[in-house]
Amino acid sequence: MQILLCDSPDHVGRRAADVIEARLRQGPAVLGLATGGSPRTTYKELIRRHQEEQLSFAQATAFTLDEYAGLPPSHEQSYYSTIRREFVDHVDLPLERLITPNGDAPDLVAEANRYDSAISAAGGVDVQVLGIGANGHIGFNEPTSSLDSRTRVKTLTRTTREDNARFFADGQVPRLCLTEGLGTIRDAKLAVLVAMGENKAEAVRLMVEGPVSANCPASVLQMHRHAIIILDPQAAAQLSSLEYYREAQEFNDDLSLRARSAG
Ligand code: GLP
Repeated sequence: MQILLCDSPDHVGRRAADVIEARLRQGPAVLGLATGGSPRTTYKELIRRHQEEQLSFAQATAFTLDEYAGLPPSHEQSYYSTIRREFVDHVDLPLERLITPNGDAPDLVAEANRYDSAISAAGGVDVQVLGIGANGHIGFNEPTSSLDSRTRVKTLTRTTREDNARFFADGQVPRLCLTEGLGTIRDAKLAVLVAMGENKAEAVRLMVEGPVSANCPASVLQMHRHAIIILDPQAAAQLSSLEYYREAQEFNDDLSLRARSAG
């Protein structure tokens, strides 16, 4: 795991955007997109780079991580609508290459299988953007999710429904969802998780320094070949090896600067 310590949520967004931009500049990329509050500064920065620096998504494909069951894509709180409103509608990603699980499909099990097949057919995800829930979930993989799970139907915990009630005018959050599994997420070539705020600090500590455990689903990233965890000071506050992460970060930054000036 690579831990990047940032000064603020905007700084987190810039570092995450750097990673995504680097991949986009290498050629057609398959992006995995998370919804929720955490990646907002990342998307804001990518939109700015698109508008001001010609960063293009025209060759990219994007898969969203999860979706509420029972909401049609047109519902304003569906993750399809949310990712369009917060990111995709502001860049040049072709809409036909924004792929989301259909939470309103008549057969959700078949839809989950279709989704995994679509990801494989696209060649797998190159860069997966992730947030983390206060209970350690990624996507909608709630605690006790199998570490090897694939896209499937899940029941949301009361904590997650309470956390997300703020987005629904009537406070009523669906009880079921479709989510990529922890195994699906682990298949991504690069995972970039962004976290900010003190209510994420404990989940971040368990993810980075705790045991790999289905009780903290994000801890599966300890088994990922390349996971970058980008944190603001509040989210990093409970980590015990901050000094080491800071040193490693300075060393890495120095290395990549030298590589860039050599190239
Ligand atoms: C939500 C989403 C996740 C998100 C997480 C944290 O329920 N399903 O993809 O990362 O919970 O949300 P937020 O970033 O709003 O704190």
